[in-house]
Amino acid sequence: MKVLAILYRGAKAAVAEPRLLGTVENQLGLRPWLQSLGHELIVSDDKEGPSSDFQKHIADAEVLVTTPFHPGYLTADLFEKAKNLKICITAGVGSDHIDLNAAVKKSVQVLEVSGSNVTSVAEHVVMSILLLVRNFVPAHEMIERGDWQVSDIARNAFDLENKVIGTIGAGRIGYRVLQRLVPFDPKELLYYDYTSLPDAVAKAVNVRKVDDLKEFVSQCDVVTVNCPLHEGTQGLVNSDLLQHFKKGAWLVNTARGAICDKDAVAQAVKSGHLRGYAGDVWNVQPAPKDHVWRTMKNPLGGGNGMVPHYSGTTLDAQARYASGTRSILENYITGKAQDPQNVIVGKGKYESKAYGQR
Ligand code: NAI
Repeated sequence: MKVLAILYRGAKAAVAEPRLLGTVENQLGLRPWLQSLGHELIVSDDKEGPSSDFQKHIADAEVLVTTPFHPGYLTADLFEKAKNLKICITAGVGSDHIDLNAAVKKSVQVLEVSGSNVTSVAEHVVMSILLLVRNFVPAHEMIERGDWQVSDIARNAFDLENKVIGTIGAGRIGYRVLQRLVPFDPKELLYYDYTSLPDAVAKAVNVRKVDDLKEFVSQCDVVTVNCPLHEGTQGLVNSDLLQHFKKGAWLVNTARGAICDKDAVAQAVKSGHLRGYAGDVWNVQPAPKDHVWRTMKNPLGGGNGMVPHYSGTTLDAQARYASGTRSILENYITGKAQDPQNVIVGKGKYESKAYGQR
């Protein structure tokens, strides 16, 4: 059996830190085990273009392991080439880099390690909300520059207490974000999702569901995006929706870059309609050097909390998704049933309700 893994290059850091498991160098810890069973493992970060390792080896790989942090985009066209492919495993959470409709059509299973990094991301969301609301980044940059002008920072710094905070998507991550926000005494917590939380679960964090997206964003001081990327969420936060945001609201997106329209967000930050935008996910990864989200600022010079895609790849998360990837592979090899919560696309059909209403 040929297993192809497209992972990010860890370079010097991965040599010095073996817990960077999700890297080309450390190979999710899979090599000795797979080789002892007589399987072939190809690992690479070379994923773009027809002569890339990804496109070369996808032609006869039976198993594809990818990670959202350095996505190998398995398009419908590439599915045509992948004659031997039976199963795609996402080392992490979020399988939008695989054309899931093509996977259904071709009867290729798609599994992810559900829950493996949801706490990691939820913590990052709370941090990002706080750094925007409290105007942290320009304050730190001022200190590094050797300056000290408290009023320049304080004029755009607020408390999170008594704000209305809403999540688009109240699944594993969205709900954990809500749980972590309760101690900040928000004015209200809201969610927008086509799936309803059970009453007791909603009550535990005192969150209210709003069914209309425009109405939802118009009530929020802070919006956090925590739904998967699929046909129904691509470009969901666009110039039209942004007009319905409160003036001066903050937006945090650690879900997927393409859920937010790149130029509409940049324009809203530059005009001050959004006071800030933060997150770790980009419409293309790695993000080009001149990507507008790297440098956009609000009119007072702050409001940018962008970082590379790392919220779900902390060392703690890597340990969990490496061992989850191995379990999925073990089940596949031995013919054991997969944990249903990991199955996004089963044999010829969607098994998860999270990738759009069908
Ligand atoms: P989940 O499946 O537990 O929850 C997703 C929720 O989004 C579900 O309740 C679903 O009904 C809802 N949803 C789907 N479409 C929606 C729509 N159109 N409008 C409103 N809600 C909608 O997934 P989980 O574990 O919470 O992860 C969510 C996403 O976060 C992943 O799909 C992935 O894209 C992203 N993620 C990002 C990471 C990072 O490192 N930045 C790491 C892990 C996940």
